[in-house]
Amino acid sequence: MGSVQGLLRLLLLSLFAASSFSRMHSPWDDKIAMQTEEEAGEIEEGVRWAILIAGSSGYGNYRHQADICHAYQILKRGGLKEENIVVFMYDDIANNEENPHRGKVFNKPYGPDVYPGVPKDYTGENITVSNFYAAILGDADATKGGSGKVVASGPNDHVFIYYADHGGAGVLGMPNDPILYADEFVDTLKKKAAAGTFKKMVIYVEACESGSIFDGLLPTGLNIYVTTASDPDENSWGTYCPTMIPPPPPEFGTCLGDLYSVSWMEDAEMENLKKETLNDQYRIVKSRTSDNDTYMTGSHVMQYGDIEIDAEEVERYLGFDPANENVTRPELPVSKAPATASGMHVMQREAELLHLWHKYHKAVDGSKKESAGMELTRTIAHRMHVDNSIKLIGDHMFGLDTSLLRLKAVRPAGQVLVDDWSCLKAMVRTFEASCGPLTQYGMKHMRAFASICNAGIDLDTMKKATSQACGFSETDTDLRTADSPRFSASAKEFVKTIEF
Ligand SMILES: *[C@@H]1O[C@H](CO)[C@@H](O)[C@H](O)[C@H]1NC(C)=O
Ligand SMILES: *[C@@H]1O[C@H](CO)[C@@H](O)[C@H](O)[C@H]1NC(C)=O
Ligand SMILES: *[C@@H]1O[C@H](CO)[C@@H](O)[C@H](O)[C@H]1NC(C)=O
Repeated sequence: MGSVQGLLRLLLLSLFAASSFSRMHSPWDDKIAMQTEEEAGEIEEGVRWAILIAGSSGYGNYRHQADICHAYQILKRGGLKEENIVVFMYDDIANNEENPHRGKVFNKPYGPDVYPGVPKDYTGENITVSNFYAAILGDADATKGGSGKVVASGPNDHVFIYYADHGGAGVLGMPNDPILYADEFVDTLKKKAAAGTFKKMVIYVEACESGSIFDGLLPTGLNIYVTTASDPDENSWGTYCPTMIPPPPPEFGTCLGDLYSVSWMEDAEMENLKKETLNDQYRIVKSRTSDNDTYMTGSHVMQYGDIEIDAEEVERYLGFDPANENVTRPELPVSKAPATASGMHVMQREAELLHLWHKYHKAVDGSKKESAGMELTRTIAHRMHVDNSIKLIGDHMFGLDTSLLRLKAVRPAGQVLVDDWSCLKAMVRTFEASCGPLTQYGMKHMRAFASICNAGIDLDTMKKATSQACGFSETDTDLRTADSPRFSASAKEFVKTIEF
């Protein structure tokens, strides 16, 4: 229901718009340190590795793969070698039939094509959580499908991981099942650290509730520094969307980038990365992602792990583009009183509806319009089904009065989302068995499943609740089959209501 209101809000909007480390020692120590660093030369520096991963597919999610392609171009210009950059992207955007610029991908209105040269290491069916973990661990034998390229790093090497997609509390989306669970991701990072096959690692994550992947879960001392687009209980935002003023060229009909992502990338392209520290970049990105400090259509960029790593220059991870050699140290944002919100960015989870609405709105030919209307309505109906099912399950367990409060309860910062991750996974499986796939949108309810586990509710109770909430009768299953006459009638009715 919330999503329908959100959509209507969007429709209204669019109508009205048309170091080096800081060492603590004597100058005498400095001399010695400088000498050894110089003598060591490249060996000291090690190799730079990267994994770039877009967790989504489909033209409505254009922006995630555009982000990943863009990041690849930055790393290439920074001097990283193709053999050291592992790319995971579905690769269904450039040649998508909805793409008005066939063969090209843009991450900014009137920006450059970021698609050329992006390696296709893991595309389509080969983007899996297990291939992602194998790539992190440098375990080529464990990969299934794809190029087999992995981060075969050594003890002096620096690793950068960048992820862009939808997420939910404790999870990140993947284009193929299963989704990524935070506990397994963090376990993989611990394994990598225990193997001693990197010096330092930096991870940037764009997703809704991305803070929940690391908060209370990623220990310090692994030499891993993380920033996330949002805090543990907050949306992340798409940008360069059709609602923006000025909008991207109208033919796109979808968002071209994500706010946190384009903030770090457009910053990296402007700066002299030998002079900008990770902390400088964090502050610049945090400021832009805050939507003029209002957080109205923006989120809180967060830091996790070994935060002191942020004193290092960005160059150690992203390399250095000689074109920026004369740029001075970045100008840091000064904190100011919250200004007016731009109101321009679009919630990750609403971006798909916005795309579908544009597709419907643009379609001229009758049958195309009808099928676009259908797609939009089916998506909204499914969202309502997921939201209602969760609400019913909560009512069953906690009673009508406190249901929503209990389901949405957020633990204090620094406390892990859920104590028993296997309980969380089992609850999701139980839900899916009765209510159908959780889907990209349904990840927004992960916190409800976590709350159920944290309340100590057992699986049998969950089974009863889900089958009560989703015990479909024959006619109700219509709602999941777009071609049924009943569905098509309700779709037409619905589309009428949104044609002002
Ligand atoms: C997956 O990987 C296999 C093996 O490399 C390859 O043959 C196949 O084409 C890949 N699938 C996609 C969709 O890229
Ligand atoms: C940087 O400045 C030097 C000295 O003025 C100049 O020779 C060089 O071409 C400049 N580099 C770039 C990329 O503009
Ligand atoms: C707020 O954000 C918009 C869009 O990013 C920008 O044009 C504007 O200058 C910002 N500042 C204020 C004070 O509104």
